Amino acid sequence: MSFENRQRVASCIEDIGTDINQVSQIFYRHLLQDTPALSRIFSGNTATLNRKFFNMLAALKNVKHLEKIEASIHQLGERHGQQYAVLSEHFAPTKKALMAALEEHLGDGFTAELRQAWDEVFDAVADLMKPAISHTRRIDDDSQALSGYDGDLLQTIGGEDVVLRIHQRFYDTIFDEPWLGKFFRGKHETTLARKQTEFMVAAFGGENRYRGDTPAFVHMHMLITQEQLEAREAILRNAIRDEGLSEEIVERWIKVDRGFWSGLVKASEEECVLKCFGQYPVVAKKPDGYVPPSS
Ligand code: HEM
Ligand code: HEM
Repeated sequence: MSFENRQRVASCIEDIGTDINQVSQIFYRHLLQDTPALSRIFSGNTATLNRKFFNMLAALKNVKHLEKIEASIHQLGERHGQQYAVLSEHFAPTKKALMAALEEHLGDGFTAELRQAWDEVFDAVADLMKPAISHTRRIDDDSQALSGYDGDLLQTIGGEDVVLRIHQRFYDTIFDEPWLGKFFRGKHETTLARKQTEFMVAAFGGENRYRGDTPAFVHMHMLITQEQLEAREAILRNAIRDEGLSEEIVERWIKVDRGFWSGLVKASEEECVLKCFGQYPVVAKKPDGYVPPSS
């Protein structure tokens, strides 16, 4: 896969920009017409479906760094098999629908050269994901349990403003937390609260305005442990409760949040993946006498 072809695909995704939801609609039309059985996997309302499509393109855009992100693409494959009940044979119809959507959307702009680039890039990523798709996948309804999505939650919470307030409170605490705060030095709190809100609003069934990378990619260079995720969860629980929301909502929110953990958690610094020259693994040493936040 040539560097030019990776660039071509990345620029093509950039150019699609805010038209992404239109391309998504065309993609699903083709996909579900050709392979109706996939509606079981690609279920949900339009907002959910657009988010799934967006995630796929976001991952393909990062392919510029494919060699460096092999481990995280492997994990992505595992999640597809274990959590989303995807099979290796689903990649061919997905690719076909994606190509058809690009062709329909870009018209003459979808040159033979660009088609070739997409063809190569999709196959390269799919070939890394497929071997990780385990045969012992879970295909029962429980597979929804960790899907990082709850389609009615935004409404139940009371809308985006509430989510934003909770995140502001959450980051206020986390920035000052003795251990987790180390990750956030030099970061802009208000921007993070906004991005996190856009991200979670989509996961709670609202509009998808999040334009960042998927969490697995964002945190690829950070050594995030289970213990840190649990400390973060305690802070999040408190931030939700302090808004006066019910325990039922707290549990639903946390369930969605936990759906993203498997892509983040690492056992050692060696599992950190660097995206660009000059980046270094972010490792936060536990402070002596650390007392974890309680919820
Ligand atoms: C090269 C091909 C693909 C790429 C790069 C890709 C990428 C992604 C990414 C980045 C996510 C976000 C969630 C996560 O990080 O775990 C995702 C979710 C998902 N993908 Fe894929 N995907 C690909 C192929 C497929 C195929 C072939 C299917 C099924 C036919 C599929 C079905 C799903 C589903 C159901 C989700 C769950 C979304 C949710 O509920 O949040 N993907 N994909
Ligand atoms: C202990 C666990 C975690 C730590 C230490 C952590 C740390 C961070 C840091 C430092 C950033 C800023 C990255 C940057 O601007 O360079 C960030 C961004 C972000 N994190 Fe986390 N995170 C954790 C867990 C999670 C989880 C579980 C989720 C998903 C529910 C998540 C979603 C996000 C999102 C959406 C962004 C914004 C990315 C962007 O800039 O577009 N994080 N995180």
